[in-house]
Amino acid sequence: MTKNKKLIQWVNEMAAMCQPDKIHWCDGSEAEYNRMANILVKRGSFLKLNKTKRPNSYYAVSDPTDVARVEDRTYICGDSEEEVGPTNNWMAPDDMKKILKDLFTGCMKGRTMYVIPFSMGPIGSPISQIGVEISDSPYVVCNMRIMTRMGSAVLDHLGEDGEFVPCMHSVGYPLEEGKQDVPWPCNRIKYIVHFPKERAIWSFGSGYGGNALLGKKCFALRIASIMAREEGWLAEHMLILGVTSPDGVKKYIAAAFPSACGKTNLAMLTPTIPGWKIETVGDDIAWMKFGADGRLYAINPEAGFFGVAPGTSMSTNKNAMLSMTENSIFTNVALTEDNDVWWEGMTDEKPSHLMDWLRRDWNPTLHRPAAHPNARFTAPANQCPVIDEKWESPEGVPISAILFGGRRSSVIPLVHEAFNWNHGVFMGSMITSETTAAAVGAVGQLRHDPFAMLPFCGYNMGDYFNHWVNIGSKSTEDKLPKMFYVNWFRKNDKGKFIWPGYGDNIRVIKWVFERTEGVESYKDMPFGRIPNDTALDTNGLDISASDLKDLFAVTKEQVEHEVAEINSYYAKFGNHIPAELKEEVKLLAKRAE
Ligand code: OXD
Ligand code: MN
Repeated sequence: MTKNKKLIQWVNEMAAMCQPDKIHWCDGSEAEYNRMANILVKRGSFLKLNKTKRPNSYYAVSDPTDVARVEDRTYICGDSEEEVGPTNNWMAPDDMKKILKDLFTGCMKGRTMYVIPFSMGPIGSPISQIGVEISDSPYVVCNMRIMTRMGSAVLDHLGEDGEFVPCMHSVGYPLEEGKQDVPWPCNRIKYIVHFPKERAIWSFGSGYGGNALLGKKCFALRIASIMAREEGWLAEHMLILGVTSPDGVKKYIAAAFPSACGKTNLAMLTPTIPGWKIETVGDDIAWMKFGADGRLYAINPEAGFFGVAPGTSMSTNKNAMLSMTENSIFTNVALTEDNDVWWEGMTDEKPSHLMDWLRRDWNPTLHRPAAHPNARFTAPANQCPVIDEKWESPEGVPISAILFGGRRSSVIPLVHEAFNWNHGVFMGSMITSETTAAAVGAVGQLRHDPFAMLPFCGYNMGDYFNHWVNIGSKSTEDKLPKMFYVNWFRKNDKGKFIWPGYGDNIRVIKWVFERTEGVESYKDMPFGRIPNDTALDTNGLDISASDLKDLFAVTKEQVEHEVAEINSYYAKFGNHIPAELKEEVKLLAKRAE
């Protein structure tokens, strides 16, 4: 237990309100994990997977109404609407608290309330932060044990008066007298709420992913972005990878792509060109602080991967597949006859018989997906065969380059480099991408997703751009990471992807690497610097010269359209857009002439 007064008082208050039958303080032990898993098996929420094929792993399917992050139910309750800006839902804190109080009163009747202390980042790192999640979901407890450093060691570190972010969660399915539990309890009403001033999180009604594992999107991005702005660092939706050249030179790269755009694949990439090596520090979130040398150092605040399963295979991401061979949880994938997992894209040949994620019999003649498109695996990061030796280093890894990217079938080149820091910030602010199944809503629609942070920035996006500009002014261009914008997703006029992607993305990384070394291998175009005619290594790649050209082709009209588009997007944020970025729009318009 703990002697932390603030924590004891908070737990007591929450228990009085939620009225659980029992309170359980999580110690994070393996025995506790097994107990939780057994509770879930008995309840029909977990099925233990084939012991030989997938040791110590579990299978869960959610309620069909609870399958992804709910952005329209996600609120930032700052003091004013302007503080949170036009990209966030807002409600006055007091009004929201009334709603939440009503919803949470008695919401844990008949259940156990779990107190889950966790550290985002290695315990004790100067970049790490502590949170405590209260939840009535043993599924959340199991997932938090994989995704964070969780349990007694965190309480020890917190001590009597350490600070923590309170993260309150309920699935919103009380078991009043006589009410039967269900395999995936949740509530039709959902609220994912952040209070910036108190640095507190309240989540009601969902048991899925980022809605319920509150260390991830709610804390490590939305609340942390607020902290980072106040304290002069960066909390970003970025993977972190280490890349080693054939000469044995190692550099670290961070990359921001919107949800389900291949961050996990890039973070674990198996290079197709000889001599290059990629190692993984993180696949979703990066916290970056300046070191004494003026460089940005990044940590991965998470301890596991919560990756999109469909499309993951031994050919697209071998290292992800090998990370989840044991001690993993699978949610909303399909179940094979011998109690193992399957999803679309895992094998070329589809199994002849499965149970699909809706617990129905499935066979390939049905022509419907067996796994939900946002089905996930939860796997411990230290099981990744290419985990970087410094992935838990308390001081983080020095970042040499930052990549931005999105899914764009045209216009945006395969890769282009920023002329300088502010131009890079401008590129990050310009990201637009096709929506994916990671959030509830239409899939495949182009939307602005600046810095891939649209659903995750805890304050006014215009002020966030300004924060990035300010970060640049704290160091010098030679020490700051170089910035790039990549797009693996360009299509030809037949609608087919032009670039092979996956392991061949090393070819782009190689150019990025060389640019950070100062190799003069570029030429200018309106968006920025692209590889000159001989710079992109296409050895062994079956791509025609005209396809290669198409990967970088942009017309004057297309650039002008992007300029008009970014101008109208910026207009939403009024005077919150920094002058430096307005200047960048003008410069881009001029380069298009
Ligand atoms: C995620 C997401 O789950 O971005 O990482 O949606
Ligand atoms: Mn993500």
